[in-house]
Amino acid sequence: MLILGIETSCDDTSAAVVEDGRIIRSNIIASQDALHLRFGGVVPEIACRAHLESIIAVIDSALADAGVNLKDLDAVAATNTPGLIGALLIGLNAAKSLAWVLDVPLIAVNHLHGHIYASSLEHENIQYPVLSLVVSGGHTSLFLTQDVTHHTLLGSTIDDAAGEAFDKVAKLLELGYPGGPIIDNAAKKGNPRAVSFPRAYIEKDSLDFSFSGLKTAVLYHCYGKDMKTHHRFGTQEIADLAASFQEAVIDVLVDKTLLALEKNRAKGILIGGGVAANSRLRHKLQEAANTRGVPFYYPSPRLCTDNAAMVAGLAYHKFLQKDFASLDVEAVP
Ligand code: KG4
Ligand code: ZN
Repeated sequence: MLILGIETSCDDTSAAVVEDGRIIRSNIIASQDALHLRFGGVVPEIACRAHLESIIAVIDSALADAGVNLKDLDAVAATNTPGLIGALLIGLNAAKSLAWVLDVPLIAVNHLHGHIYASSLEHENIQYPVLSLVVSGGHTSLFLTQDVTHHTLLGSTIDDAAGEAFDKVAKLLELGYPGGPIIDNAAKKGNPRAVSFPRAYIEKDSLDFSFSGLKTAVLYHCYGKDMKTHHRFGTQEIADLAASFQEAVIDVLVDKTLLALEKNRAKGILIGGGVAANSRLRHKLQEAANTRGVPFYYPSPRLCTDNAAMVAGLAYHKFLQKDFASLDVEAVP
């Protein structure tokens, strides 16, 4: 079964053809990083216009790369929630149009469930229930995943997302955009104990997250509490700051993931989303999983960040369950 997946929830225009939910025949991703770089974050209006300009070319490339024609497709899938409303609408309407003219089922995919599915594209036998941590530019959520299509939300961020914190701190330190990979790299040469940044646990046993206080702590560290000083940091200081900030984020992510794992007696740990590409997070979760004797599932970096292969892959399972969307399904921001 060949499914075309489309992903436009944020700032990547992506289309992929996946066979039987596992074989990635193509996965085209048109990044908009260059457009948002000078703003240090995603500008929604710019993202929507860029999706509109590239969506047809991206779909054409995905089909050509896979060596398939439109009439070979068994279904068309798109992310319909959550995301930037204008951005979601471009991909969803492209999918609706194709499903309609080809007279094949339309499948609507939840972006976070897609990020969780990314691991299934590379791991054959995931043991369920698994504890899933989705960490991206827009989300920080813990789910108990019973199987590929059933997820119970256990906790999420009450303010900023983990990736957003990486991006904002990188902007503050004038390191570039997106900040996650840059901080990940810089931190490799830094001391994670150089600066003592706060860890926000909210309440004992809480599975929710908060990163705005940490962001403010980094801001004060750079500009002073009176916001009047602007330290000029050297390369080593930047590395130390990056490592200390990253450690503060990761300590909380790891601790809460392990708390949720124990509370729910899950059989393993799974991560997805852009921040799941973070080398330190992967290392610490791998260590924790080894200590507890549970498997740890994570996608390769290219499948961590936004991509349509995860959408087309998950759509296969929704197809088998006849979980189709009607042509008036809405995009939900
Ligand atoms: O999943 P994604 O592509 O988009 C959303 O759904 O939001 O995630 C993008 C986010 C950005 O905030 C980016 O800085 C972050 O993922 N990211 C990373 C790394 N690679 C990407 N954060 C930390 N370490 C990384 N290596
Ligand atoms: Zn995402």
